[in-house]
Amino acid sequence: MRSIQIRSGSSLKLMRFSALGLLLAVSSVTSVWAKDELPVENAVLTHAPQVPPPISRDHPAKVIVNVDTIELVGQLSDGVDYVFWTFNGAVPGTMIRVREGDLIEFHLNNHPDSKMPHNIDLHAVTGPGGGATSSFTAPGHTTQFSFTALNPGLFVYHCATAPVGMHIANGMYGLILVEPKEGLPKVDREFYIMQSEFYTKGDFGEGGLRPFDMAEAISENPDYVVFNGSTNSLLGKNAIHAKTGETVRMYVGNGGPNLVSSFHVIGEIFDTVWVEGGTLANHNVQTTLVPAGGAAIVEFKVEVPGDLHLVDHSIFRAFNKGALGTLTVSGDEDLMVYSGQQSDGIYLPEGGATQSVNGGVPEPAAPVAKNKEEKMLFGQRIYERNCMACHQENGKGLPGAFPPLAGSDYLLSDPKHAIDVLLDGLSGEITVNGVGYNGVMPAVSLDDQSVANVLTFVLNTWNNNGGEITPEEVAEHRAAK
Ligand code: CU
Repeated sequence: MRSIQIRSGSSLKLMRFSALGLLLAVSSVTSVWAKDELPVENAVLTHAPQVPPPISRDHPAKVIVNVDTIELVGQLSDGVDYVFWTFNGAVPGTMIRVREGDLIEFHLNNHPDSKMPHNIDLHAVTGPGGGATSSFTAPGHTTQFSFTALNPGLFVYHCATAPVGMHIANGMYGLILVEPKEGLPKVDREFYIMQSEFYTKGDFGEGGLRPFDMAEAISENPDYVVFNGSTNSLLGKNAIHAKTGETVRMYVGNGGPNLVSSFHVIGEIFDTVWVEGGTLANHNVQTTLVPAGGAAIVEFKVEVPGDLHLVDHSIFRAFNKGALGTLTVSGDEDLMVYSGQQSDGIYLPEGGATQSVNGGVPEPAAPVAKNKEEKMLFGQRIYERNCMACHQENGKGLPGAFPPLAGSDYLLSDPKHAIDVLLDGLSGEITVNGVGYNGVMPAVSLDDQSVANVLTFVLNTWNNNGGEITPEEVAEHRAAK
């Protein structure tokens, strides 16, 4: 998790006294006077995936919102860093929750360490630039404007300082929820999810500090499509949780800057979708579109335990560019709703020939490992992407279908043979630890580095007895074909 810093205010009281600024200041003072009796409160702001608490008021208030613009280095993916431009120190920016009819006094504080000016365009604002024209803020300055939340709904906010695309591409977006006056139906869990894409010099997974790539952004060809600012924000220890029988609401935004999201939760059906974040309720929806610069609210009840995967169903984005998250549901099984696997037999139609993952197209060149530790790390990533679905995270395979790699006599008696297995695939009967297998393993299109890395990872994991495969050995085997 990148470091997060929120200041509740600023000691700087610098104002811009341009003619326009003075005019805007006067007009905002006028509207503040008109609403002078409103109770005043500070907005509760939350970092994704947390959502501010529901509004319990039955009357409008003046809500003070303080947002800092901070430029910082954070993690975009394992081993991949990026200079993010942020609202309140994270991507997406902190979520804001107000009530229809509230007067919002918005303070934008640009951190003194910033290199760039920033502003904010909130799609919940009725007024020029959505606030952008009133909030242009130089580094070390603070600006203020006010607006009344006239329309209920879920709205995106973003920086709109030129070059606008670049400020958004670097992470400057978030969500503001304007609850309708009558409130929203109560649910058990609420989550804040925001999709966006990143354009870097280098390919997906290429390590180190990766700068922004304007040409890629203009051609709308991102290396990363992610939820909540990184490939890991909703995976592993960052997965979100619910219990069976609970109702879940997700506030889903799309910062873009370019792509439309086909938001889907694998293994769930949205009972209700508040289409485009507005007041139109659609029901029984599998996948909902979330436009760039738009949002949707999805609601569903979780009936059975297990991992539900959040994806952009433009599916290569999910499995090759990072748009993947997990909602882990715990609780009792309901075998009438979902039985789990009830049988598994061998089905071998004619022509079960060895196929090739990737259609024979090699993956992009892997980074060169500097030592065995790096080899293990890179190898693990390749294993997770290419091998784990069959051979399993614990290397034990699946009985009757996929042989184990952990403690495998077949593998460990001749590790160099495994090079050929990876390059060519494998079919026909083999015996592993006294058990027969007759499956088909596809050839995996990996370069020499990657084959060496993944095999070295396998040889040194799960108490296997060690060893190392070099890219040169892989090249020799490849040449011998
Ligand atoms: Cu900006």
